[in-house]
Amino acid sequence: EQGRLRDRFGRAITDLRLSVTDRCNYRCVYCRTGNEGAQYTELAIDDYLRMVRILVSLGVEKVRLTGGEPLLRSGLVDMVRELSTLRTAFLPDGSPTESGPPLDLALTTNGHLLETLAAPLKDAGLSRVTVSMDAVEPETFSAITRVPRSFERVLAGVRKATDVGLGPVKINCVLLRGFNDHQIEAFGEFSRREGVIVRFIEFMPLEEDRSWKPETVVPMKEVLERLRAFRPLVELPRHVASETARRFTFDDGLGEIGIIAPVSNPFCGHCSRIRITSDGKLRTCLFSQSDHDLYGRMLRGGTDEELAAYTRKVVLDKEERHHIGEPGFEKPSRNMVHIGG
Ligand code: GTP
Ligand code: 5AD
Ligand code: SF4
Repeated sequence: EQGRLRDRFGRAITDLRLSVTDRCNYRCVYCRTGNEGAQYTELAIDDYLRMVRILVSLGVEKVRLTGGEPLLRSGLVDMVRELSTLRTAFLPDGSPTESGPPLDLALTTNGHLLETLAAPLKDAGLSRVTVSMDAVEPETFSAITRVPRSFERVLAGVRKATDVGLGPVKINCVLLRGFNDHQIEAFGEFSRREGVIVRFIEFMPLEEDRSWKPETVVPMKEVLERLRAFRPLVELPRHVASETARRFTFDDGLGEIGIIAPVSNPFCGHCSRIRITSDGKLRTCLFSQSDHDLYGRMLRGGTDEELAAYTRKVVLDKEERHHIGEPGFEKPSRNMVHIGG
């Protein structure tokens, strides 16, 4: 078999989300209950790098490092430096090449350690960062992260990332009814003032404490109504079909807002993503009920060709879509923090 990685619905798999640890220094109320410790064994950086090289040879063009909190992982900056030397393996017309454009290398972080790490990461070749911020009010922020004075640190990290050229920074805000939905307009202001892209995300059932209920989700329609009342919005075109967010700016062109609506408006039909967990399991969907032991095959001496063939085979059976909200829906046994955002 040749050509780019595809599933049986014909979706090309071009995006890899790689978790480098499932540890986290925050305990966001909608995500984690535990302490900072790892639940799953982390792989050596070289093992992640080998997996990425194989996936790039199969057509992956974009790599997003996630966690847990990826900035807790030692060796991360060196890993980024290695990844930034990789070249994509196919031209836009689908023909194989030795040296296509470099990878799009992104990172999703809670921002706590970003002020220190932004410059080294940029220097190592990182393209851009997404920072999770669920409030722009320090008290609400700490009530969600359960870490005191976290807002000031994260804000300093966002500004530093912008200054060193990792921007425009994307801000991820998961809306939870009754917790932070009063912050929608303030986030609109924040985007305009700080020059960041604010993305509101509908809460998905991937939390540790099983608190998800349909009523806790703040649907896209409501967010848009609230923002429009704050100031008129103009919709912007999607960059690519597989983009998770619908994009908007305000009528004077200042600020950018994204709405990610996996619950009220699923985007699975254009999904281009696969995931590798910090313990080296391949997941073909955020909501997969089982995963595929890529690392186990490496440990047993699999060659690059064998691992590539195995990946092609499991990706064929990528789930068509998630079933959130449908009768009989079961959340996956792993939660967001152990899968990778
Ligand atoms: P870029 O387009 O590269 O900036 O990445 P992105 O838009 O995927 O951004 P990011 O990694 O920050 O993802 C934003 C959020 O969208 C995630 O935190 C998830 O909540 C949600 N999300 C991302 N990928 C998927 C997916 O495959 N399925 C579902 N249901 N939700 C997703
Ligand atoms: N639903 C939607 N988004 C989530 N995230 C974490 N848990 C959930 C969930 N249950 C987001 C975080 C972070 C990214 C990694 O995923 O806010 O921005
Ligand atoms: Fe892709 Fe699964 Fe997410 Fe849908 S739920 S967008 S199929 S990873």
